[in-house]
Amino acid sequence: MAEIPSTIPLEKIPQHVAIIMDGNGRWAIQRGFPRLAGHKAGTENLRRTIRSTVEFGVKYLTIYAFSTENWGRPPEEVQGLMFILQDVIDRELNELHKEGVQLRHIGRLEKLDPKIQKKVLKAIELTKNNDRLILNVAFNYSGRDEIVCAIQKMIKDGIAAEDVTDEMVNKYLFTAGTPDPDLIIRTSGELRLSNFLIWQAAYSEWFITPKFWPDFDKEEYRRALETYAQRDRRYGKVSSAELQESNA
Ligand code: FPP
Repeated sequence: MAEIPSTIPLEKIPQHVAIIMDGNGRWAIQRGFPRLAGHKAGTENLRRTIRSTVEFGVKYLTIYAFSTENWGRPPEEVQGLMFILQDVIDRELNELHKEGVQLRHIGRLEKLDPKIQKKVLKAIELTKNNDRLILNVAFNYSGRDEIVCAIQKMIKDGIAAEDVTDEMVNKYLFTAGTPDPDLIIRTSGELRLSNFLIWQAAYSEWFITPKFWPDFDKEEYRRALETYAQRDRRYGKVSSAELQESNA
C-alpha cells in the first residue's frame, strides 16, 4: 500500500516529478571532501529518493544525472560520474527490478563508452515490463540537444511541415510516452532550468529548496509535494473557481 502524506489528497499527488540534483560539489567542499565524495553522497540520496517516490505514489521520476555540458568538468570528475552510473547499475539493478521500477534513459546514449551503453541497454531490457515507477535517467542529456535530435529524426523520416504538431514533436523526443513533468524540484537554491526538459517544462510547477542534494530528505520531499498540492494550475486559462464565479 502506498504511503500517502496525510495532508495530500491522492488526486493532488503529481504523476511525474523531475529533479535537478544540484549541490553535490558544494556539499563536499563544505566538509573538506573532494567533489566526487559529494556525488557519492548524492547517489546514496538518490536510492532513498527513489524509495520515497514509490511510497508517495508518484508514477514517473526523471533525474538529471549528467548533462551534455558536464563533459567540460575536470576529467577525474567526469570519469567518476561515468563510474557511478555503471556502479549504480551493477549494484542496484536487481533491487530496482524487484521493486517494480522500469528504467529508461534519456539523452545521447551513442556518445557514451560502449561498455556503459551495453549496461544501460541491459537494464532497460530487464525492467521494460515493470510499471510501479518509471525512472527516466537523463545522462548525457540536454533539452536543446533533445530538440535538435527530434528535428533531425523528423526530417530523416520525411515528416511534412504541416504534420509537425505539438503531439508529433512529443513523439520524437527522448521522453516519448512520458507525460510532461507536473513538478520540477531543484536543490541548492539555484533559480534556473539548466537545459533540462525545456520543451516538457512548459507548464510544470517548481519547488526550489536551499538544501544541497545529499541533504534533500523525505521530509523536504513531502514539503515539495504539499506545496505542489496547493498550487492552482491554470495552463494559461482562468481557475475553475473563478469561472464558476463569473458564470454565477
Ligand atoms: C550537480 O551538482 C550534480 C551533478 C552534475 C551530478 C548528479 C549526480 C548524482 C546525484 C549521482 C547519481 C548519478 C547517477 C549516474 C545515477 P554539482 O556538482 O553541480 O554541485 P555544485 O553546484 O555544488 O558544484
